[in-house]
Amino acid sequence: MAALLFSLLALFLCHHPSTVSARCGTIDQGSTLQLLHVNSPCSPFRPKSLSWENSVLQMQAGDKSRLQYLSSLVVPIASGRTITQNPTYIVRVNIGTPPQQLLVALDTSNDAAWIPCTGCVGCSSSTFDPAKSSTFKPLRCGSPQCSQVPNPSCGGASCGFNTTYGGSSISAGLVQDSIALATDSISGYTFGCVQKSTGSSFPAQGLLGLGRGPLSLMSQSTSLYQSTFSYCLPGYKSTSFAGSLTLGPHSQPVRIKTTQLLRNPRRSSLYYVNLVAIRVGGRIVDIPPSAFAFDPNTGAGTIFDSGTVFTILVKPAYEAVRDEVRRRMRGAAVSSLGGFDTCYNVAISVPTITFMFTGMNVTLAQDNFVIRSSAGSTSCLAMAAAAEGSVNSGLNVIASFQQQNHRILIDGPNSKLGVAREACT
Ligand SMILES: *[C@@H]1O[C@H](CO)[C@@H](O)[C@H](O)[C@H]1NC(C)=O
Ligand SMILES: *[C@@H]1O[C@H](CO)[C@@H](O)[C@H](O)[C@H]1NC(C)=O
Repeated sequence: MAALLFSLLALFLCHHPSTVSARCGTIDQGSTLQLLHVNSPCSPFRPKSLSWENSVLQMQAGDKSRLQYLSSLVVPIASGRTITQNPTYIVRVNIGTPPQQLLVALDTSNDAAWIPCTGCVGCSSSTFDPAKSSTFKPLRCGSPQCSQVPNPSCGGASCGFNTTYGGSSISAGLVQDSIALATDSISGYTFGCVQKSTGSSFPAQGLLGLGRGPLSLMSQSTSLYQSTFSYCLPGYKSTSFAGSLTLGPHSQPVRIKTTQLLRNPRRSSLYYVNLVAIRVGGRIVDIPPSAFAFDPNTGAGTIFDSGTVFTILVKPAYEAVRDEVRRRMRGAAVSSLGGFDTCYNVAISVPTITFMFTGMNVTLAQDNFVIRSSAGSTSCLAMAAAAEGSVNSGLNVIASFQQQNHRILIDGPNSKLGVAREACT
């Protein structure tokens, strides 16, 4: 079992450090930032001592808590709880004057940015030093932004707060400073300057939130970016580093399939779409419409998320997909591996899976739904069912493995989400 996991992961997170180091310093240009996988050779955050098998098990465990976290995002949105446990992709940002470069996790389901600040107790990574920035400013208690954080504490004059997420407690101050993204600069950007973190859930690198709430980068830069961005997530095996995050309406794909973006008041940070059916190969599988129902009262529906690794479907939807895959395997012996319950020692004979949204079909090739061991001897359907009974609540999550090598466009002004194939490998 361990050996199998090892070889599966060896391929999954394959590294060729000697051939890629020259590209690690790529300069971000215009409004486009290079997007890196957190475990890629250029990432300082890639696990050094963690074994591959532990790393896959961790990712799967991370998806579970991620779903719990996404499900917990109910009104009133507590921005302080918007911390994910398993950031997967990172970008470079420059904060302060003169600029201090940080690599932060991109999170499309978070509003706030959380930056580890100098002196932070329990932050393990590189930090931002407010004392070295001439444009740094703590926000006062009476500021409008202070009312957007949960339980602001106003012991002193400045706005601070304590919050918990998963196993971590965090103390942060609400502050403002300039942020530069590629060659764009935004002054007076509001973020949380983390001063203390206990527990293991807080991501070392901090977060950049591209969600839809008031403290999000997108909400703080509407004149510059007009609530529009797109990204292409490179494959986990990538060594070419062509992943990118493009901010603003310029340089966005013109020809792209789109579907309506929905706003769910129950979970207002998240990017909802209307998933209506799933096709496995040529067959639309039998899934009760209730499995996909968008419900503003419960928060149920389907979202695109960059922080979950493997797509999670509510049980009846997952089981219908899984059963059709198994049916097409005509009795080949099925096994499980970690969180995957549909694995084979032979090739999976399903060429495509199509997610059918209102007005947009997205057909995925095997690279987006089959995970294979390096020896090629084991292949698993790389999706999972949501655990039943929890707070969960009918949330389907289209996750990063399924989004790889596609451009995902968020077009706020037109309320559209677009998907186009793009080899950013
Ligand atoms: C956060 O909690 C610590 C104790 O753990 C306390 O000393 C501090 O004043 C609190 N800060 C805020 C902003 O509530
Ligand atoms: C999606 O595919 C189905 C057939 O499986 C087709 O009937 C439908 O028109 C397609 N939708 C779009 C928007 O292309």
